[in-house]
Amino acid sequence: MSDAPSNPTLLADANQVPARAGARIIAVTSGKGGVGKTFVSANLAAALTRRGHRVLVLDADLGLANLDVVLNLHPKVTLHDVFTGKARLDQAVIAAPGGFSVVLAGSGMVEYSRLTSEVRAQFLQVIQTLTPRYDMILLDTGAGISDVVLFSVSLAPEVLIVATPEPTSLTDAYAAIKVLATQQKRQHVRLVVNQAARPGDGRAITGQLQQVLDRFVVTDSGRPLRLIHMGDIPADPAVREAVMRRQLLQLQMPGCPAALAISQLANKIEETLLKRIA
Ligand SMILES: Nc1ncnc2c1ncn2[C@@H]1O[C@H](COP(=O)(O)OP(=O)(O)OP(=O)(O)O)[C@@H](O)[C@H]1O
Ligand SMILES: [Mg+2]
Repeated sequence: MSDAPSNPTLLADANQVPARAGARIIAVTSGKGGVGKTFVSANLAAALTRRGHRVLVLDADLGLANLDVVLNLHPKVTLHDVFTGKARLDQAVIAAPGGFSVVLAGSGMVEYSRLTSEVRAQFLQVIQTLTPRYDMILLDTGAGISDVVLFSVSLAPEVLIVATPEPTSLTDAYAAIKVLATQQKRQHVRLVVNQAARPGDGRAITGQLQQVLDRFVVTDSGRPLRLIHMGDIPADPAVREAVMRRQLLQLQMPGCPAALAISQLANKIEETLLKRIA
């Protein structure tokens, strides 16, 4: 869909959408664990693929990878093999059920739960090699604000925070957003509210979080970090069903409320980040 530069600029100005700049990279992350990052990453990838975009999901949750479980994939080659020089990156790129590509972390990555300069360099190299080949790269990161998580998030110009309406999830989301504003100098972060109980939950939550950010978090520009509400995904029993069956919700139950919400999220991401400048 787009020609690619040989040297993508990481952490570029996310407010500009260049016509031909290789993949847009979004880190899907959260403060609290278990809120739906992997579910959102995989199904969003399927929805964007359906719209004709070339999408790759990278399992960036090095310590506790589980994208392979959700997609029911049993990769022969993983990121671990690439990092240890046992395989080439091309061999680790595999086709997922939704028609998009994935690079899976696999077991053995536990040793990467601490960040070394070598891991940083390898990670960066992997992203730089993949960027020219796709329109969108989603990084399914771990939760929290550990060094490894923050480093994987730093590889993406765009961040999509997944939070549920529970107070614990929101407190942790706030903590993560604050770190992204102060340490990574981000001017904006995107938010999707998953497992929403009723329509309007996400907008209200975004407003509340923005108020706290306005009071307590000032970015480098002197302005508060802007929280961009990207949508809500309702709590839907079909999600758990799909996970239990190791199937993609977007493929198996495209008409259920959560799948429809993911489609809307894909529309919004397409409009915001994948539109072309003529
Ligand atoms: N919209 C939803 N409705 C109902 N259940 C959901 C929804 N989203 C996620 N879940 C449930 O939450 C579980 C955890 O989701 P997921 O594995 O995507 O979270 P995660 O944030 O990636 O977790 P981790 O931090 O461990 O990587 C899913 O297996 C599913 O059962
Ligand atoms: Mg996960």
